[in-house]
Amino acid sequence: MSNTLNIRGYDFVEFYVGSAKMVAYWYAKALGMEIKGFLGPETGVRDRVSYYLVKNKLKFLITSPVDPGNFEIYDFISRHGDGVKRWAVEVDDVEAAFKYATSKGAVMVRRPEKLEDTHGYVTEAAIRLYDDTELVYVNRDNYDYIFRPKYCEPIQKIEIAAQDTGIMGIDHIVGNVRQNEMNLWADYFNKTMNFETFIDFGPGDIGTKYSALLSKVVRTTDFKIKNPINEPYAGIKKSQIEDYIEHYHGSGVQHVAVWTHDIVKTVRALRKNGMEFLHIPDTYYDHLRSRDDLGIAENIDDLQELKILCDKESEGYLLQLFTKPIGDRPTFFFEFISRKGEARGFGKGNFQALFESIELDQKLRGDLGLEAEEIMPPC
Ligand code: FE2
Repeated sequence: MSNTLNIRGYDFVEFYVGSAKMVAYWYAKALGMEIKGFLGPETGVRDRVSYYLVKNKLKFLITSPVDPGNFEIYDFISRHGDGVKRWAVEVDDVEAAFKYATSKGAVMVRRPEKLEDTHGYVTEAAIRLYDDTELVYVNRDNYDYIFRPKYCEPIQKIEIAAQDTGIMGIDHIVGNVRQNEMNLWADYFNKTMNFETFIDFGPGDIGTKYSALLSKVVRTTDFKIKNPINEPYAGIKKSQIEDYIEHYHGSGVQHVAVWTHDIVKTVRALRKNGMEFLHIPDTYYDHLRSRDDLGIAENIDDLQELKILCDKESEGYLLQLFTKPIGDRPTFFFEFISRKGEARGFGKGNFQALFESIELDQKLRGDLGLEAEEIMPPC
């Protein structure tokens, strides 16, 4: 098997949000990204504004409607809140990738189109993912300006002081789907884009006494794109995946994992920039210190101070950390990850620790479905 679509790697992620200007400033501050481009009425687009942010290979678009006639974005944020509308992969040939995917059953959203101006052209096409999400094929080999036509330099350059986070690019993007939909979407990736199922967490693999999930990871055969898909699994109480589906009002992207060479430096900078992370109990690090087989270069005191998770794999190890949901609804969050050695998995131990940590937050919000007397009020 080969990377049939000739996917080069992740390209951009576009978020639809209520107020793009404010959210773009938050991304610039919290993630230490640079606002490199802008699209809006000043650049000839009347119904929306969009900020283009970059840090190393990481490219985000933050987009909001500014005209009541823009039903597409208003409908999305009204139903889902702020969230990921589309994520893109860079391909050698957009037309060929789109043709292959749709011939194998991918749902067409946008046929290949050439977006052109005096700086050249960008080619894009899109297929559907989950409820309201899109996967975009893009090629920008013939374009030498900001992102794509109609994006210009920001009207007013604003310096936002932030610690250098050292974040590099996207490691993986995760979808949450309803019960009995995981296999459907895993098959969709495998059939339409020739991905393969890499990891399959079944019943009993990930869970607490209250709730559980099932998860499959599909990927391109060369590991460039990795896409875990989670679905709720029956437990005594409500699964956190079901909780996401309820607050998001449907299936969609749960988190984007961003990679870094030095996670200790990255997380220290992110915390100084105001990023909030999930809590990991100190007992986790007592257990880590007791492991004779760990053999990691990082200092466990640093990991404990910054609440970084560590999981050993046969070919190396993973260091990971998860933020709290970044918006008002308990839906989308970020992960930061460093892969050491040849570690290519997703850390079953870390997954379990993440699951327990999210459940703590779920419990605080009263969303786990526990009786009132079982919930400890935060104040
Ligand atoms: Fe992840």
